Amino acid sequence: MSIKIAGVEKMNKTQRLSYITMLLRGQLDVEKDFIANLSNASAIIKAVVEDLNWAGFYLEKEGKLILGPFQGMPACNRIECGKGVCGTAMARKETVLVEDVEMFEGHIACDSASRSELVVPMIFQGKVVGVLDLDSPIPSRFGEEEKVGFEKFVEVLMEEYEQMTGKE
Ligand code: SME
Repeated sequence: MSIKIAGVEKMNKTQRLSYITMLLRGQLDVEKDFIANLSNASAIIKAVVEDLNWAGFYLEKEGKLILGPFQGMPACNRIECGKGVCGTAMARKETVLVEDVEMFEGHIACDSASRSELVVPMIFQGKVVGVLDLDSPIPSRFGEEEKVGFEKFVEVLMEEYEQMTGKE
């Protein structure tokens, strides 16, 4: 059984999606280091949201995505723009929701347990600076509610991007 934050077991999925953003705001209030914040952001998601086998970040470097802080099984280190679900979200600059990874041409299988996936791009000044990647062992785990909830989570994170990275 994975560790969960106390009290979370009584929450429904709508409450959990609000709660992760609330916990993220608390984290961002007390810490301005980018990697520390991404690390705890992935831990918050994994501790609160049910039925995830992988939650974490890939960060843009020289036009590609490189593995960042995450919770889950060891994963592929580098993803080309346009490749896999993550690279597709990067290329399209929009969220990609995959109900069945076996039906997604080019899906990169890092953890063989993954059955569905949601990838939200992190956009700063029109440029994709990374992605949030969520994997579930359950087919069709993610729907519109998760898409909206995790886009909000990334939006809150990106409000602090400039301050965390010193980029303008
Ligand atoms: N499945 C992803 C690769 C990353 S792992 O899921 C952590 C993809 O197709 O881009």
